[in-house]
Amino acid sequence: MQLTKYEEDMYNGEYGEGKAECMEILVSLGKIYDAQKMIPITSAQVSGVSYKTIGDAGLDFVVDLGKKADVTLETMLNPAGVDIENWKELGFSEEFTKKQIDIIKGYESIGVMSTCTCTPYLIGNTPLLNEHVAWSESSAVCYVNSVIGARTNREGGPSALLAAIVGRTPYYGNHIPENRLAHMIFDVNYDFTNEAQIGALGYYVGQIVNDKNPYFKLNNNPGRNNLKLLGAALASSGAVSIYHAEDITPEANIVNKDESFDELEKIDIDADIINDTIDNLSTTDKTPDLVCLGCPHASITEIQKVAELVKGKNLNKDLWICTSKAIKSIAKQCGYLDIIESAGGKIVSDTCMVVAPVEDLDYEIIGVNSAKAANYVPNMCKLDVVYDTCENLIKKITE
Ligand code: F3S
Repeated sequence: MQLTKYEEDMYNGEYGEGKAECMEILVSLGKIYDAQKMIPITSAQVSGVSYKTIGDAGLDFVVDLGKKADVTLETMLNPAGVDIENWKELGFSEEFTKKQIDIIKGYESIGVMSTCTCTPYLIGNTPLLNEHVAWSESSAVCYVNSVIGARTNREGGPSALLAAIVGRTPYYGNHIPENRLAHMIFDVNYDFTNEAQIGALGYYVGQIVNDKNPYFKLNNNPGRNNLKLLGAALASSGAVSIYHAEDITPEANIVNKDESFDELEKIDIDADIINDTIDNLSTTDKTPDLVCLGCPHASITEIQKVAELVKGKNLNKDLWICTSKAIKSIAKQCGYLDIIESAGGKIVSDTCMVVAPVEDLDYEIIGVNSAKAANYVPNMCKLDVVYDTCENLIKKITE
């Protein structure tokens, strides 16, 4: 691999042992993928934060690394295993919370911002078109590649962190324009009216394409919130890291000019496919005892919608809306937090229904409007799931 003088000096330890170790690992990783060079990045997003998923080994890794090096650019964390401001009220254990705080402090000590969200692009970590970044949360990877048009591979938590320390990542995969071309065309003859439908599309297509790049022809633009849900679903049933939607996402009308485009396999999607997929994503038709929205973490407009739906009502089951601390604070300023809390709901920050140990609480059935959450909750939390729209789920738990 061709390294610049600065990169070679980092590799040889001129900038300290920590950076040298990071470079050594990243160069080895690049060689596996036949990368010819490293590329500077402008931001990082690091998964592997919840104590539920990384345990003590992950905590030790962060603490050890912290003794040797700091991050050098804007770096945010994925959701943690608990809302550290409201853990007691939500029913999480003190022991788990302490471990989680240690992990976050470990990251903080090396310069990582301690905000924990899978939607960093909603709170200021928003790259520009064609910018190279190293992100690891799969839904955020899909969003930043597809909707924003920045460039990242689907990094692991450690490789994103190492890249944040040296400011470089190996140049392969989605960083190279040819690898961003479409591989399969999906002609979707369906007028989307809600988020459950668009999530079902992503879940169905992810299973077909696995890690290939789907290109969608949609009847209507589903909007940013729904594109977030589409990418999350694609990345959870498959390993999609970039998709294109004609006349909607920034690179669609570039990739469809490529000479290979007309030769691509075309698949039609109709209402039966969407409706069957919606039905199959629920594991029960009983009423949920917790409705959990915000996967990926909710935007302020999604929270506004929930506030409108619950205003003046009394919820008879628990309602969580997962989001970042930053969006929660905007929701407070806008008065949405008060409305939601008055109805009996909660805005839960910096964690989510999948990476928190929800299985240790007294819930059996979780209602979700995210196909990604519907896919993961039965496996990761061993709970039943009801997949429906935000509106219908709230109706189910409203007196
Ligand atoms: Fe985010 Fe958790 Fe969903 S990390 S994408 S809210 S599973």
